[in-house]
Amino acid sequence: MSGDLNGNKILGAVLATAFVIVGVQQVTGAIYHSEAPEKMGYFVDAPEEAAGGAAEAVLPPDWGTVLPTADLAAGEAAFARCVACHTINAGGASGTGPNLNGIVGGAVAARGGFAYSDAMKTHAAEAPTWTYDQLDQFLTAPGRHVPGTKMSFAGIRDTQTRVNLIAWLRSQGSGGYAVPAPDPARQPGAAPAEGETPEGAAVEAGTPTSGLGPQVPVTGAAGQSTVQESPAAPSAATSGTASPR
Ligand code: HEC
Repeated sequence: MSGDLNGNKILGAVLATAFVIVGVQQVTGAIYHSEAPEKMGYFVDAPEEAAGGAAEAVLPPDWGTVLPTADLAAGEAAFARCVACHTINAGGASGTGPNLNGIVGGAVAARGGFAYSDAMKTHAAEAPTWTYDQLDQFLTAPGRHVPGTKMSFAGIRDTQTRVNLIAWLRSQGSGGYAVPAPDPARQPGAAPAEGETPEGAAVEAGTPTSGLGPQVPVTGAAGQSTVQESPAAPSAATSGTASPR
């Protein structure tokens, strides 16, 4: 008797489990189906830029070299693409976008009275200053550099156009923001020195047993530690955000 009852309980439990599984599948199916046609956003061409923007992954411009020779007139002309949303005169009003006077080297998301997106505020906490590199990456593809930004602008693909524009932006209230010294390693004169390296490498490659072992780990470790220590700006970060005006 009790055996039959237990059997029914087990059968009931199995059926209940089956119902739960089917139910979960239907519910998740409904969720996935409803999520699929979510809005696509404004930056549909950003992935394309990412694919074509391999140059950004290679090396940023050497600002100390490119800024002094930039074409300011061409930069001002490029700003025509921004005026629909931005003023840049000192004390200019914010429109769709914030006033950009003194933006080069200026604090991110710090223009009084402008309602920045949460995305830009979050970005400001991570990268509080519009350095040359930050501006360059943002203007290359705003929606990729600051995902969720409300700046609906596809970006400027051409590096020289961005360099000219950033040089001109700097001339609009950012003159006090220093141009870094040219990177000696990236000057034309540095090429012969690099030319020696392949020869040395070729010699070491000729003696594989002794050459490869110590060589690889040493360079790898040195390179990693250098890269990680160099962007030491977290303290400047907090002070930059603390003084919005
Ligand atoms: C369609 C309007 C629009 C256009 C065109 C546009 N912007 Fe913007 N821009 C915005 C908006 C809106 C924001 C604020 C973004 C946010 O809060 O996410 C912004 C933010 C910025 C910021 C950050 C400002 C700050 O205070 O941190 C910079 C720099 C900038 N834009 C530069 C440019 C430049 C340079 C161009 C032209 C190449 C340009 N924008 C074109 C609307 C625009």
